[in-house]
Amino acid sequence: MAPGATFVELTPAVESDAGGIFNTKRDGKALEALSDDIDAVNILKPSITTTGNSTEKGLYEESEFDKSKDKSQFRQYTTACDRVKNFYHEQHTKQTVAYNLQARNKFHSTTRARMSVWQAIEKLNTLIDESDPDTSLSQIEHLLQSAEAIRRDGKPRWMQLTGLIHDLGKLLYFFDAQGQWDVVGDTFPVGCAFDERIIYGRESFKSNPDFGHEVFDNGLGIYFPGIGLDNVMISWGHDEYLYHVVKDQSTLPDEALAMIRYHSFYPWHNAGAYEELMNEKDREMLRAVRAFNPYDLYSKSDDLPKVEELKAYYEELIDEYFPEKIINW
Ligand SMILES: [Fe+2]
Ligand SMILES: [Fe+2]
Repeated sequence: MAPGATFVELTPAVESDAGGIFNTKRDGKALEALSDDIDAVNILKPSITTTGNSTEKGLYEESEFDKSKDKSQFRQYTTACDRVKNFYHEQHTKQTVAYNLQARNKFHSTTRARMSVWQAIEKLNTLIDESDPDTSLSQIEHLLQSAEAIRRDGKPRWMQLTGLIHDLGKLLYFFDAQGQWDVVGDTFPVGCAFDERIIYGRESFKSNPDFGHEVFDNGLGIYFPGIGLDNVMISWGHDEYLYHVVKDQSTLPDEALAMIRYHSFYPWHNAGAYEELMNEKDREMLRAVRAFNPYDLYSKSDDLPKVEELKAYYEELIDEYFPEKIINW
């Protein structure tokens, strides 16, 4: 437990009708456009030369970009960079220890909705609004493409299901999220020093109240060496939220939970940070997350899945790992 943490008394869980509790004023399309930009940066980042630990330099210096990359990709990248940089400024300013304790407290004290996993997929799809064909895949298409790519490669059934559900935490945006910054984007631990390997580096945390804090921004902070990531607060967003939903209500294995919880944890699974916090289990989980990541990032150019044809297969798969048909969100 973090120093100074306070908890209010929990209120009883509310059983909500799945239709009436969503904040439909939220702009799902804008969230998805941003999410695509974040992906674009994560996809194209490796093709940019970086020096030292900082990604700041490589992200903005055109001269270091691989000129053989196709031009539309480059345009997408530079446009994405501006929006993404503004987004991370806000995210890195507001993801504090205090906010994370509050978000977890709220999560455990409320049931936001009750619906099946497939209903949640359809709900997310509707809320995000697929009506703009230029921008991106619909949510249901992205989820099915990830799952189908995993299935085509002959991976285990639990991993196919993980592909199918991994972004369902974005529903958070339509429940009680404060903005886009506590739903999408790369994640990082709070309660220990902000690592230079987080996108845009330590510099980008300068306005965060925890920046320079004698405990929260000092070495391992509230943690100790080898504590294990299960005991570390990862910044609140769609990964962390879905992880908690699925951990308590499915029989999915630890590897699946790790794929869900850490899929946006780029400083860890991609840049090798936070080694000191890891335990034996985390080392295994890291391999699992790395095995999963390409199916999230690179399946988007595959053929469009036919939802109606695939629905029966995946509904059976959902039933296999979720003992209760209707679950708490
Ligand atoms: Fe995601
Ligand atoms: Fe995804």
